[in-house]
Amino acid sequence: MGFVLPLIGFIVLFLIIYALIDAYPKIKLNIPSPPSIPIIGHLHKVIGLDTEQQLKLAQQYSNNTERMMKFWFFNVLAIAPSTPELFQKILSSEECMEKPYIAYRLLTLNNGLLASRFHRWQRDRKFFNNSFKMSTLQSFLPIFNEAADRIVDDMRDNVNCEAFNISPYIFKCTMKMICSTSLGMRINKVENEEAFDKIYHAVNYVIESIASLQNKPVVYPETIYLLTPRAWKHIASAWFLRNFHFKIMSERRKVLDNQDNNNIRDEDSPYYDIFIDQLLKNKGLFTDREIWEHILTILAAGYETSATCLSHCMLFIAMFQDVQQKMFDEINEVFPNGDEEITLDRLGKLQYMERVIKETLRLAPVGPVIFRETRKEFEIEPGLVIPKGVVFILHIYCLHRSKKYWGERAEEFDPDNFLPERVAQRHPATFIPFSFGKRNCIGTRYAMLSMKTILLKFLQRYKVTTNLKYNELRFKSTLTLQLIGKHLVQITERKRHEE
Ligand code: HEM
Repeated sequence: MGFVLPLIGFIVLFLIIYALIDAYPKIKLNIPSPPSIPIIGHLHKVIGLDTEQQLKLAQQYSNNTERMMKFWFFNVLAIAPSTPELFQKILSSEECMEKPYIAYRLLTLNNGLLASRFHRWQRDRKFFNNSFKMSTLQSFLPIFNEAADRIVDDMRDNVNCEAFNISPYIFKCTMKMICSTSLGMRINKVENEEAFDKIYHAVNYVIESIASLQNKPVVYPETIYLLTPRAWKHIASAWFLRNFHFKIMSERRKVLDNQDNNNIRDEDSPYYDIFIDQLLKNKGLFTDREIWEHILTILAAGYETSATCLSHCMLFIAMFQDVQQKMFDEINEVFPNGDEEITLDRLGKLQYMERVIKETLRLAPVGPVIFRETRKEFEIEPGLVIPKGVVFILHIYCLHRSKKYWGERAEEFDPDNFLPERVAQRHPATFIPFSFGKRNCIGTRYAMLSMKTILLKFLQRYKVTTNLKYNELRFKSTLTLQLIGKHLVQITERKRHEE
């Protein structure tokens, strides 16, 4: 027994020496850092803050940082850059294309594009770049159209009524779009209504749970999380989604085999290249589990982001009537009869609408902060070499609201920030709501096309107002940037070509 204590002492000493040797190259990095506490580093600065306060603190640090700042969380070193040049360099460099596990531990989704480790990601991203090509997206336009029509119709009960929360309508709409383009679920099929509803609740629960886990990165290890009631409901929701997905996968497999063998098209087969079919057609490339994780990632990454962005956008255009009017005028120019087919070309002509969406994403970037980790040594600036295993905190929200890059009126809503002549004057990485570089958002064009279709259909039919005030809006950063409170608006029906 007498040797147990010395042995423990030796192991502890060994671990401390090992940690110090490992940390030494990081400690000696010449990067400014706020005062810290031994061992825990800067953890005390964020612990106890709610998600709104964390956002404000990040903004404070960012505004007071010339180039970058470093933070310690126990033995993890994190560097937060504050200039577009550094954002560009980090996000474009292969050395930094890893995602830190601590920030992306998305239970059940670890093999999807968003969270996967570098080598797997590299292989899979090549495949998906092809899946999101323009001709495929073009074939999705009728789906976007159908879903948008449906949701605009569903809103009619709110015409001339009290203020209502517009967000759930939009969430259901983008959910239907994603389910239809990923899994081939027909939007107007009555039998699908119940399934859409169940998927909507299950995905929401999974996203909320992941957010609750993400916000407590260090103090909330998965093993403890798994003992909580939330984790069990989280697992049950993920299990429901998994079973549902596997059922559809087996149906699609039969349909595809049938097409291969008989060279015929199933009556009920979608006329577009849905994501699950693309994955199944490449036999042997993905296991069934990988297909499921990819599809759930696309579902989760695609539906909530677009819906949140559009909810914010609706609120902004309800507040700024002149902006809404300009959008409406533009719609009437591009769709003079109101019922013209929605094409890529026509959506591309909605340039003012695009500026409004971009300004929404500038002030309220749905992914307010993203992370990267160095896979190997990385020379961030001449002579400044960042060792392997360092985390970068890329605070898009702070960059987008920085007066240094957006001027004194950085906090104001002004779609003209995206006039071509103003864009030309800025560094390309000053506006990066979809991230930047090879590991950026794969759904950028999908998102723009689907959001434009919804706005177009909505504004053709309704005028939107709100009693909420722009200066009183407050945001918090969970997994995505959320409004504190509800997106409360009123709607009235428009007459055709109303002034
Ligand atoms: C307004 C809408 C959207 C915004 C603001 C947005 C933003 C982002 C951002 C910032 C990232 C990088 C995340 C990171 O590095 O941690 C990302 C990644 C991703 N997004 Fe989006 N997104 C949107 C819509 C969509 C849509 C519609 C889809 C799919 C249909 C999608 C699928 C993905 C996927 C799969 C990734 C991971 C890409 C990779 O690592 O290769 N997103 N998105």
